[in-house]
Amino acid sequence: MSAAITINRTTTARVAVIFIVLLGIFFFRDTWLPHVHDQQSQLSNGSPSKIDKPAHGVGAVHTTAAAPTPSPSSSAFYKECATTPGADNVLVLVKTGATEIYQKLPTHFVTTFACVPHFMIFSDLEQTIANIPIHDALVNVSESFRDHHEDFELYRKLQQYQREGQDVSKLTGKGGWNLDKWKFLPMLHKAFETAGPEIEWFLMMEADTSVSWTNLLQWLKTMDPKKGYYLGAQNVLGNTLFGHGGSGVIISRRTADLMKEHRNSTGKEVYDAKWELSTSQNCCGDEIIARAFMEVDVKLTPAWPLIQGETVSTLDWTKEHWCSPSITWHHVDPIEIDTMFQFQSQWVDAHGWDTPFLYRDVFEHFVSRHTTVNRTSWNNLSQDRKLISASLAGPDNEDFYSLEPYEQRAVKSADACAEACLLKPERECVQWMFTPGRCYLGRDIRFGKSDEVLGEHWTSGWVQERLAAFREGFEACEVKWHGSGA
Ligand SMILES: *[C@@H]1O[C@H](CO)[C@@H](O)[C@H](O)[C@H]1NC(C)=O
Ligand SMILES: *[C@@H]1O[C@H](CO)[C@@H](O)[C@H](O)[C@H]1NC(C)=O
Ligand SMILES: *[C@@H]1O[C@H](CO)[C@@H](O)[C@H](O)[C@H]1NC(C)=O
Ligand SMILES: *[C@@H]1O[C@H](CO)[C@@H](O)[C@H](O)[C@H]1NC(C)=O
Repeated sequence: MSAAITINRTTTARVAVIFIVLLGIFFFRDTWLPHVHDQQSQLSNGSPSKIDKPAHGVGAVHTTAAAPTPSPSSSAFYKECATTPGADNVLVLVKTGATEIYQKLPTHFVTTFACVPHFMIFSDLEQTIANIPIHDALVNVSESFRDHHEDFELYRKLQQYQREGQDVSKLTGKGGWNLDKWKFLPMLHKAFETAGPEIEWFLMMEADTSVSWTNLLQWLKTMDPKKGYYLGAQNVLGNTLFGHGGSGVIISRRTADLMKEHRNSTGKEVYDAKWELSTSQNCCGDEIIARAFMEVDVKLTPAWPLIQGETVSTLDWTKEHWCSPSITWHHVDPIEIDTMFQFQSQWVDAHGWDTPFLYRDVFEHFVSRHTTVNRTSWNNLSQDRKLISASLAGPDNEDFYSLEPYEQRAVKSADACAEACLLKPERECVQWMFTPGRCYLGRDIRFGKSDEVLGEHWTSGWVQERLAAFREGFEACEVKWHGSGA
């Protein structure tokens, strides 16, 4: 082998360079070449690239996972993420259920939790996954509820299935929601009581929440855990302003201590009985904990859009989001948790632990290159204005015959629908979607998702000049570390 190299070193080197270039072209061709109607061309030409094909009808936000990721050994992120300053001061609490746990938790174990030194998982069944303990959040709820209340029917079934050695995931869809609200306060109490002295912050999340560890740690540094904080994506129910549970809720040590003292001085039994009664009478655990925090004078600090209830596919990419760090997403699939985690690792490797990524950066990475072409079998970009033919329109839709002539034409073809979008003022239409008889226009940039495996198929497109104008408006972002008003 060394002989071959010494015989003609330059030729070998040239061949090697050409080979590497060709290899590069081959592997990166999807990054460079536009995918016009890529769904179809992939199906017809059998291209090996699967990157834009929907997996089980979920969004294609994982597309850029096709870019080669640095191997963990060469990534500083993987080496440092569990020891980076601040990591040791956060306790992450996951609220989940036994029926979904094997489906949703493993991805967290190999991604986010690999970076989180302190986490606790709360479910409705005590078990271990390998050597990871899963706590039954409901174990101390009064027997009068656990043994008799209808919300606990699933709970009782789960215990029975476990005793009998059956697969509890078969109980999916049997009252998980009713049981869920009972977990919130008990899991907080357990976490507050067991947290070590180093814990300054508690993050409460669900199995389908994705969290950016670097952005979270940077954000927490901007606040003092000795002050009473309760942060979340603001929502209102009745008179209560609360943080939406699935989007993630953050609690400072001070708040935790206030609540612990209050419960202790009230008497745990009296306190718990009161809140159990309240839980039985109200719908939602995230609203219930907001009232429990109010009792110790801690009000919600609105944290949307840093804390976010949408996904990359469903978000409206407006100026509210553009310059905010992106900390959580909700309703994400395991694949989205992983791709967001990989994006985060690449970000930290490139920018370090002190620069947050913003929604803008997520857009550039996950969405941008897909909006440069029209897409077939692509849905849910646009819902703001619905132009529907006379034969398809329902009673709630606009009367077809009162539409402008160009609007009436719009329901006939994708071209005419795109044309109608262009004829609207810029603030009224940036994207459109068409299926015969329907043309829907969208005011904000949304990514949407493939509808290839569904019954109904749309063609969607973005008005390029308007996209460009929107992005130019935010070129110089000033990082917004605070939530916006609701
Ligand atoms: C239940 O109560 C016991 C005894 O007080 C305590 O040790 C345990 O941590 C509690 N568990 C939960 C989930 O609250
Ligand atoms: C809890 O309350 C009891 C009696 O009300 C008191 O003696 C005890 O010091 C309190 N403990 C804490 C940790 O506050
Ligand atoms: C998308 O489709 C519209 C209407 O057919 C067309 O005018 C526009 O040029 C297309 N855009 C791209 C980027 O291909
Ligand atoms: C589009 O959104 C609607 C309502 O938000 C939802 O019912 C529908 O399933 C979505 N379609 C796709 C393809 O995601």
